[in-house]
Amino acid sequence: MQNLRIVSPKRDRRIQNGWEAFFPYYAGYPEVFVDELLSSADLRQSSVVLDPWNGSGTTTLAAARKGHRSIGYDINPVMIVIARARLLPKSEADSLEPILQQVLEGCEPQLEVPSNDPLNKWFHDETTAAIRALERSICERLVGRLTLNHSGVNLEYLSSIAAAFYVALFAVGRKLVSSFRSTNPTWIRVAKVDEDRVHVDGSNVRELFRDQIVAMTLELLHPSHNREIDFAAVELATVDSQNCNVEEEAIDLVVTSPPYCTRIDYTAATRVELAILKPLCSIDDRQLSRQMIGSTRVPVDEIEKKEEWGKTCLSFLDKVKAHPSKASSGYYLKTHLDYFEKMAASLKSIRQSLKIGGKAILVVQDSFYKDVHNDLPAILSEMAGPSNLHLKRREDFNVRRTMSGMNVSSKNYNRKPGAVEAVLCFEAV
Ligand SMILES: C[S@@+](CC[C@H](N)C(=O)[O-])C[C@H]1O[C@@H](n2cnc3c(N)ncnc32)[C@H](O)[C@@H]1O
Repeated sequence: MQNLRIVSPKRDRRIQNGWEAFFPYYAGYPEVFVDELLSSADLRQSSVVLDPWNGSGTTTLAAARKGHRSIGYDINPVMIVIARARLLPKSEADSLEPILQQVLEGCEPQLEVPSNDPLNKWFHDETTAAIRALERSICERLVGRLTLNHSGVNLEYLSSIAAAFYVALFAVGRKLVSSFRSTNPTWIRVAKVDEDRVHVDGSNVRELFRDQIVAMTLELLHPSHNREIDFAAVELATVDSQNCNVEEEAIDLVVTSPPYCTRIDYTAATRVELAILKPLCSIDDRQLSRQMIGSTRVPVDEIEKKEEWGKTCLSFLDKVKAHPSKASSGYYLKTHLDYFEKMAASLKSIRQSLKIGGKAILVVQDSFYKDVHNDLPAILSEMAGPSNLHLKRREDFNVRRTMSGMNVSSKNYNRKPGAVEAVLCFEAV
């Protein structure tokens, strides 16, 4: 573990340019962080790398570039599409515009928009119809029967080209809902009354879409985008981290950043994208949001705290329960219990997928609940022990801007600004 090169996992906003600008999603760490780990981890070419909370796919991208087989799981289908599109090789640049032509030609907006189309939450009927027609046309032209199998959808087989077209449509959706954004970057409001719904006519929607694809093509052709990826070696699938279905002891290295414990609603952050994907994946938003680690929904079943979660976790939960502020002993205690229960199950599942001696590198931030310190790095270090993941090394980095700090009510509490971002290095024993 001492040989691992650990650089700062802090994200640099300036890095989100070029091809990466098409993926403006909350990433756990920059690519260089994974690169340095992979180069110093003593891997063989046949080694397998896993990210069970793959998000926009920084780990799988970095591993694929180095020629390792990699597996990226995320419970949110939107993130699987995004991570797949990010792998689009330069050699596909030439095919994007001819495919765009076909998609536009096959695009026939319906006259009547079904009242249950989730896009109606933001868009006037004409705009919904235009976005939906593009989505249908992409699906008909670019999604094959392996993805659309009889028992549902299997995003494992979605091609990078199809994923790139969906990502272009996500960008159109995000652009059109910009007036529904708030100071919280993960939250998008919906229209309260009909008149608030965005009305952009169909030809303008298609124009925006065309612009995205043209910009993507130019970016792929840019000399700085000089890479070929063996993307067949990247397996991406919608899987719950509590039950990683990797073959036992198959993984050499895990590099990941688990969901935060600061009530970030990862489903809300991708509401528009989920609405666009609805016909493809028939996603039940509520169900998905419940399954998320860090869910803001109260769990259906009563959850008891467990000794094996460790003393730091139990003491934190006691402080939340005893906190005098409203709902601390009710809603907040329940959602924290839910977080830790899912996290303990996930650590167990990650351990099962690792080879003995395999490494798991987790980037974890501490935070505050009101004025109570949530020392998540310490909590996960202790929690991993009973699953036979032993902490061998820890490097701390200070971060100034945090997700929980963006919550206005947080300013009412006297607490240290910023946070510690810890890189926890575990070994499977
Ligand atoms: C901090 S982000 C990971 C960021 C990622 N490392 C990157 O660089 O883009 C956490 C991810 O965990 C996912 N997630 C939440 N609950 C999950 C669960 N139960 N199983 C799998 N993924 C989950 C969220 O959808 C989110 O994409």
